[in-house]
Amino acid sequence: MQPFGCAITAFLFLAGLAGETFAQSATSPAPAGPTNITAILEKAGQFGTLIRLLRSTQVGDQINNQLNNSNTGLTVFAPTDNAFSSLPSGTLNSLTDQQKVALIQFHVLPTAVAASQFQTVSNPLRTQAGDASNGRYPLNVTTMGTQVNLSTGVVDATIANTIYSDSKLAVYQVDQVLLPLEIFGPPAPAAAPAPAEAKKQKPSPVAEGPSTPSTDATDASAGERPLLGFGVVRGRCAKTSVDGGETLSERRCR
Ligand SMILES: *[C@@H]1O[C@H](CO)[C@@H](O)[C@H](O)[C@H]1NC(C)=O
Ligand SMILES: *[C@@H]1O[C@H](CO)[C@@H](O)[C@H](O)[C@H]1NC(C)=O
Ligand SMILES: *[C@@H]1O[C@H](CO)[C@@H](O)[C@H](O)[C@H]1NC(C)=O
Ligand SMILES: *[C@@H]1O[C@H](CO)[C@@H](O)[C@H](O)[C@H]1NC(C)=O
Repeated sequence: MQPFGCAITAFLFLAGLAGETFAQSATSPAPAGPTNITAILEKAGQFGTLIRLLRSTQVGDQINNQLNNSNTGLTVFAPTDNAFSSLPSGTLNSLTDQQKVALIQFHVLPTAVAASQFQTVSNPLRTQAGDASNGRYPLNVTTMGTQVNLSTGVVDATIANTIYSDSKLAVYQVDQVLLPLEIFGPPAPAAAPAPAEAKKQKPSPVAEGPSTPSTDATDASAGERPLLGFGVVRGRCAKTSVDGGETLSERRCR
């Protein structure tokens, strides 16, 4: 009985460690070599849209370079595919390339924040999108016990899970896409002359995505294939979705 008991203890100990640092990694160790945000998200699953955006905006490369070349660390808030697909139709398509970059950078903090540290951070957090002042890119944290919520002034999100955590990188699953005020909020009170409104409509829930390729054609990822995730986000029952997207889009399409 003794050896058996030891084995159980050892297993529980290891399982506990794995659960703490990487929710789904009980079976295999972290990938060798430099930390790779894409590989971490691929392994965790259900982050196909975010992965595509990290590629097309090249923010994924920025993250990997920063992790390899600096000592300060990073935190990434990772919205699930469900979070992206619950955005109003056309939301991502309505963004310029620059706005897509800012949107993804808004999900990255320039330090590694451990889960326990959210209780003591001071609001607003500064993200990689820059200016955290009101009306720009503020991101606020509220906590209650171990529960951590994020507020952008446009959406309230909850941290659902720790996907990955080491001394330089923390990746958290969030249940909403963090939409920054600068892009998705009401027009700034003082400034902001109106003419832009005519050209550039705010994403509207009623917009049943036109089937034209629209802005995807001008995406930063020139030469790469277009962002297939947008078919899902637009709410169309796109059969073209690949990279594991079809399960998601089928589910969304009843
Ligand atoms: C990171 O991981 C992705 C997915 O596994 C892979 O395609 C990419 O080449 C990796 N990048 C580096 C710099 O190793
Ligand atoms: C990581 O940084 C080291 C030292 O700066 C460099 O030699 C190496 O090529 C970098 N690796 C990657 C994958 O960027
Ligand atoms: C976090 O958000 C959830 C859902 O909106 C809410 O029920 C909960 O009270 C919030 N918790 C904190 C600490 O703000
Ligand atoms: C964030 O917190 C700051 C400081 O408490 C506050 O002034 C600001 O209005 C908050 N912004 C949002 C979007 O919650």
